[in-house]
Amino acid sequence: MSKQEPAIPNGLLEALRTAQHVVALTGAGISAESGIPTFRDAQTGLWAQYSAEELATPEAFQRNPRLVWDWYGWRRQMVAAAKPNAGHLALARLEHLVPTFTLITQNVDGLHAAAGSREPIELHGNIMRVRCALEATRYTTWSEEGALPPPCPSCGAPLRPDVVWFGEQLPVIALERAWSAAATCDVMLSIGTSGLVEPAASLPRLAYNRGATVAVLNLDVTPHNQERLYLLNGQAGNLLPALVTALEQQG
Ligand code: OAD
Repeated sequence: MSKQEPAIPNGLLEALRTAQHVVALTGAGISAESGIPTFRDAQTGLWAQYSAEELATPEAFQRNPRLVWDWYGWRRQMVAAAKPNAGHLALARLEHLVPTFTLITQNVDGLHAAAGSREPIELHGNIMRVRCALEATRYTTWSEEGALPPPCPSCGAPLRPDVVWFGEQLPVIALERAWSAAATCDVMLSIGTSGLVEPAASLPRLAYNRGATVAVLNLDVTPHNQERLYLLNGQAGNLLPALVTALEQQG
């Protein structure tokens, strides 16, 4: 089997073929092949180079709003230059092959929507939006001229990235939809996430405990197949197209 054609276990394909509801949970690993750094990979991960406490907490924004604004501006530029990769595109195809499909992402880069996925649940927000730090009104355009962070056009409080920081609650509706999908799905694919950040980390466990088949697609797992649990080692941009093509071929 060449590197381009990874083996997808038959048991997983069978579970996907008969599933009524498939959930995909994605993390930074799926966007790595689009050139967006992950958080925890040694050397290249953002948290290997920057301090989350100084950049991704409400306290950091209070202490040094300009530093936080500029850091997110730098990340926003990377995201704006990035394109969906084969992994994102395969998930957009998968949505058409199963009766019900729910895509839950921890990523803030918007690449699932750019790939054509409908209504991904964005658990950690979206870096291309900002919101008022006081009244939470959201904006998709703002001026970088003058004082930074820019003031909210409505109340004058600083605008901040519309993302979830450490110590903050996740968006309630998004989280409820994610719990509900995890609790009722037949198959969950957990893709490119270290599974270290709650509550997203608990979703595959919830699905498994409720009887779903769970497949973990990641670079740092040891391959393993047992009933209802599949660990697939490889790049999402390699594994996902192989998985979706196999499903399409088997009709
Ligand atoms: P992490 O950086 O913690 O984990 C990324 C995972 O993707 C690792 O397990 C890698 O082995 C794997 N990986 C890397 N490249 C891959 C590839 N090409 N294909 C498949 N897997 C690959 O990222 P997340 O789990 O998404 O939250 O992190 C969760 C949250 O922690 C983020 O949403 C962010 C961060 O702090 C906040 O900022 C609130």
